[in-house]
Amino acid sequence: MEYRHTPVLPAEVTKYLSLHPGSIVVDCTLGGAGHAKRIADSIAPTGTLVGIDQDDAALIAAADTLRLGRQIILKKGNFSELDRLLSEAGIAYADGFLFDLGVSSPQLDVVERGFSYHDEAPLDMRMDPAGGGLTAADVVNTYSEAELTRIIREYGEERWASRIAAFIVAARARRPVQTTAELVGIIKDAVPASARRGGPHPGRRTFQALRIEVNQEIHVLEQGLRSAVRWLVPGGRIVVISYHSLEDRVVKRVFSELASGCECPPELPVCTCGKVPVLRIVTRRPVVPGPQEIEENPRARSAKLRAAERV
Ligand SMILES: C[S@@+](CC[C@H](N)C(=O)[O-])C[C@H]1O[C@@H](n2cnc3c(N)ncnc32)[C@H](O)[C@@H]1O
Repeated sequence: MEYRHTPVLPAEVTKYLSLHPGSIVVDCTLGGAGHAKRIADSIAPTGTLVGIDQDDAALIAAADTLRLGRQIILKKGNFSELDRLLSEAGIAYADGFLFDLGVSSPQLDVVERGFSYHDEAPLDMRMDPAGGGLTAADVVNTYSEAELTRIIREYGEERWASRIAAFIVAARARRPVQTTAELVGIIKDAVPASARRGGPHPGRRTFQALRIEVNQEIHVLEQGLRSAVRWLVPGGRIVVISYHSLEDRVVKRVFSELASGCECPPELPVCTCGKVPVLRIVTRRPVVPGPQEIEENPRARSAKLRAAERV
């Protein structure tokens, strides 16, 4: 099947990565290699691109897009395991990292992967279906009502979280919830009709929450960012595109923590914590797509790009 994903903020990614021929760049979320292709062109002929994705379908598509050679290395894995993946790739440092978070268009569009609330499919939502691990069906059918409420509220920012969790628990007592359409039906029953009118699809927030939980997206993001910064050379750049406020908050928090120095109480005469800034924040405010990009690629509408430089 053709892998169609339009890269978001492509010119801005190249600009903020500040690439030049010979750079060593790691694309931690390779997808269909839309960004990676531009990166590879900017660092040719002597640069090295390491592309990472946890999804086999993405790696197959990327291998097709990029002309594989000695200077393009593709690795399957989760960017939370960056240290191992980069050691295996045989690089000693990097001049740039890109994280273009979340799911790709093909992951959303391939019905059987269970990400979409528009179709009927098994409740899966794993970005790495080959890797085993928890599915959305496992979460929906085994988590306690309190746990479901927490993740739907926290990761979905859904005001009807406790009602949706209660309706899920009541439904699964009759029989396990197995498909996306069954879950959408339960959510529609739980959310009052007046709240459903005019807003986005009632399943949107709960589906987002389940996807984040299944793929541990918030947890792995923090691990990935901290590891990436350790591999950066001074002057090297890290660029992150996030698509919802939870992710953006993690990026902002990790960047500002790593960009700040001594944390000793002001009354201490000398610094005892020894903390020094390791990053300089390049984008004080997040960079967002313009109206034309959003019109051409509606999936770009919630994108926020932040960049920082290793000092
Ligand atoms: C938004 S898409 C990237 C699209 C890509 N930049 C392009 O231009 O084609 C996100 C990709 O990152 C992958 N991904 C998300 N989280 C990941 C993680 N923790 N580790 C490895 N890959 C991840 C997904 O499987 C997906 O293919």
